[in-house]
Amino acid sequence: MEICAVVMAAGKSTRMKSNHSKVVFQVAGKPIIKWVSDALFEAGCSDQVYVVGDQQEEIRNILGEHVAYAFQEKRLGTGHAVMQAAPFLEGRDGYVIVLPGDCPMVTSETIRKAIDMTAEGGYAATVVSAVAEDPAGYGRLVRDENGNVIKIVEHRDCTEEELKIREINSSMYVFSTPLLLSALGRLGAENAQKEYYLTDTIGILIGDGHKVGVAICDFDDTRGINDRKQLYEATKLMNRRIIARHMAEGVQFLDMNSTWVHHQVKIGRDTVILPGSTLMGETVIGENCIIGENTRLDNVTVGDDTTIDSSIASHSVIGSDCRIGPFSHIRPDTVIKDHVTIGAYVEVKNSKIDEYTRARHLTYVGDSTVGKNVNFGCGTITCNFDGQDKVGCTIEDNVFIGGNSNIVSSVVLGKDSYIAAGSTITEDVPPLGLGIGRSKQVNKEEWVAKKSRMRGANYIRLDDKRSEV
Ligand code: UD1
Ligand code: CA
Repeated sequence: MEICAVVMAAGKSTRMKSNHSKVVFQVAGKPIIKWVSDALFEAGCSDQVYVVGDQQEEIRNILGEHVAYAFQEKRLGTGHAVMQAAPFLEGRDGYVIVLPGDCPMVTSETIRKAIDMTAEGGYAATVVSAVAEDPAGYGRLVRDENGNVIKIVEHRDCTEEELKIREINSSMYVFSTPLLLSALGRLGAENAQKEYYLTDTIGILIGDGHKVGVAICDFDDTRGINDRKQLYEATKLMNRRIIARHMAEGVQFLDMNSTWVHHQVKIGRDTVILPGSTLMGETVIGENCIIGENTRLDNVTVGDDTTIDSSIASHSVIGSDCRIGPFSHIRPDTVIKDHVTIGAYVEVKNSKIDEYTRARHLTYVGDSTVGKNVNFGCGTITCNFDGQDKVGCTIEDNVFIGGNSNIVSSVVLGKDSYIAAGSTITEDVPPLGLGIGRSKQVNKEEWVAKKSRMRGANYIRLDDKRSEV
């Protein structure tokens, strides 16, 4: 059976109040139009044509050249949009799926159901409908006393009686390709919007004596996105769908209202996702981890048994049994091996951190290579900018760095060496050596008492009175 698809995506997205086509907006990390395209591929339809308008560039950038395009110069309605795809349809037998480009919730099951219904029932077309809580704005399915559909009427063209109908047109259809072409040729624009309505093809085909089927599906699966509120609602629904899928696989979520998971994220069983967390891109999390609260992982791979608390990480790899956060920032191209601790207010960028290394607080590691079992004292900084380039340091296994040290660009801290607290290290430290880079301490006896006398103040020792008068 020959199956192809026409996707209508030339609309102006007026209600979105945006400079972009509404179909390129992201829902759970995937552009709306890509959701539609993927559902078609999944349903077994790879022969797809997209009706595009002025904003075609951004749509082509997403879908690429695996699909075909038809240009609609003037937006004269959905019927007119499909007419632009006529050259793609002419001479074909079989069926054509027609979908709006703005329905990311559509599933391959819904598409398959409509195709099977059309083929098995010998229908000229099948309309996918749904029962809406609030049908305002949608086209209504008008049925006769026997329950057979006779036409679709747009909201603005409805009579008082028709406005009461809650069964709506989803704008998804399957047509017999030759019959759709014959009906398109006869569309007029005598309606409230002076547009060529695709919906009128249904009445025309019935008038020709053909049978039209209706595939009723869940309203949520048909949701079209016309404005920001509908975008918000669809995003929320999609998120719930994705989270429910992870729950079924053994992942625990505490709050699906404040947790956002992109569609291709993978999470191992017994991992717990705490509120306020966002998992983006191709993030992969192992088993038995605790993520959150308030953590954002964007294209991050995490091993098993790792905790990431209130932190941000992107384009990096974090090993197993690590403790990250609270308030850590793991920037791109970082690789953290197993059993590592990255603590409060620690930033790591483009660095390799080997096993059992600890940076528990207030540290910056940039463009550096860090060995196993290294201890970063609080306030350690790699000064990775040599004035011209970003060049980090090499810190070998078992190095102990005292607090508040600066390790300057290109320096190598040899295996098992020590760095005295408060040092600025500008030269390599040999293995097993001690690097001290700070001025020697000088104590000035009675300095405070003398200073007080100079100011005319009477300094009283602590053990006398505990105050300065
Ligand atoms: C359409 C249906 C309505 C249905 C609703 C479901 C018609 C006349 N109405 O109304 O029965 O209940 O969808 O969401 O079909 N488009 C073009 N070129 C155009 C006009 C539209 O490509 O000239 C595209 C849009 O980009 C969009 C799709 O067609 O992706 C549907 O258009 P839209 O304006 O959203 O139609 P609705 O008013 O929602
Ligand atoms: Ca719409």
